[in-house]
Amino acid sequence: MTDVSSTTTAALAQAARMGGYAPSIHNTQPWRWRVSGADLELYAVPDRQLAVTDPSGRMLTISCGAALHHARVSLAAGGWVTEEERPEPGALGDLLARICIVGRREPRLAALELRDAMGRRRTDRRPFGDEPVSPADLRTLELAAAAEGVRVHRVRYDQMPMLAVAVAAAGATELADPDYVNELIRWTNRPAWSGDGVPAGTAVRRVPRRVPVREFALAPNEGAPVEPGGDRGAAYLVLHGEGGEGRHWLRAGEALSAVLLSAVSRGLAVAPITDVLEVAHPRDLIIGLLDQPGVPYVIVRCGHSTEPGAPAEAPRRPSTEVIDDHPRW
Ligand SMILES: Cc1cc2nc3c(=O)[nH]c(=O)nc-3n(C[C@H](O)[C@H](O)[C@H](O)COP(=O)(O)O)c2cc1C
Repeated sequence: MTDVSSTTTAALAQAARMGGYAPSIHNTQPWRWRVSGADLELYAVPDRQLAVTDPSGRMLTISCGAALHHARVSLAAGGWVTEEERPEPGALGDLLARICIVGRREPRLAALELRDAMGRRRTDRRPFGDEPVSPADLRTLELAAAAEGVRVHRVRYDQMPMLAVAVAAAGATELADPDYVNELIRWTNRPAWSGDGVPAGTAVRRVPRRVPVREFALAPNEGAPVEPGGDRGAAYLVLHGEGGEGRHWLRAGEALSAVLLSAVSRGLAVAPITDVLEVAHPRDLIIGLLDQPGVPYVIVRCGHSTEPGAPAEAPRRPSTEVIDDHPRW
């Protein structure tokens, strides 16, 4: 006979492991999980916050939201019905969310597709091809974000120069700050055993791009060679919403994960962009692109890859360091 409680505990531990596939700012993986009985708790790890790049902790919270969405999808794909509590970030220490298993149901196909996309999704910094993202795909991505309470603004053709200027200005401002550069060097030269950071193999060489990508290849690292130009068919999606409180940034991370996984399950390549939102003036320029007042959370570049092979994989921390699955007595 199956022991239901050990089955739910195993499903929650598996969900926490799947959470480890989530994207995170500089691959800091700033989360910790605790499995206990029928509950899975997600905690932020402030020690992993990027003090210079992310002094407000917004990018940390978005990263944790992405991990939360990955865990939710894992449980839904396993046929588990869950309920969630989300205390306002900071209200109960580092606790961000508690997921509780409350029943079983037949898994939906959409959840299975998103779960399958988790292991394949990578941040692809290489240029995308000329083929545009279809209106049907864009609608799917909008709906994926809307299901998490987040809106999507697709940057229009006439707005592309402003996006490019804003991203370039943010990159130049950040790279002129020695503290930012030191932090970037630390996170792009992590020892292999750490299982985190952005390795040189996942970065691309600096070439003129339609919209620049964040510089991760600082000397002596070179990054993968790529052709100048490209990205002509890429869509740039600004995920935005009404609120700027901690809970909105967590939601934004869940929406980011939903958009990225939906895109990958439809064969699209994806990459988040946030340097432009980390610097005040470029951020205001992005706010000016929105059709309605809103707080921009993250931008997603998506398109059709024409590059051979999958993009290089970023490492992950061992689950034993991230998941506490000893039941509390
Ligand atoms: C909140 C957030 C912000 C990010 N910002 C950027 C960015 O500005 N530029 C970029 O190239 N990647 C960005 N990324 C992608 C991370 O660098 C990437 O997720 C991490 O290195 C792990 O790699 P993976 O996504 O391939 O698993 C961001 C990811 C998150 C969650």
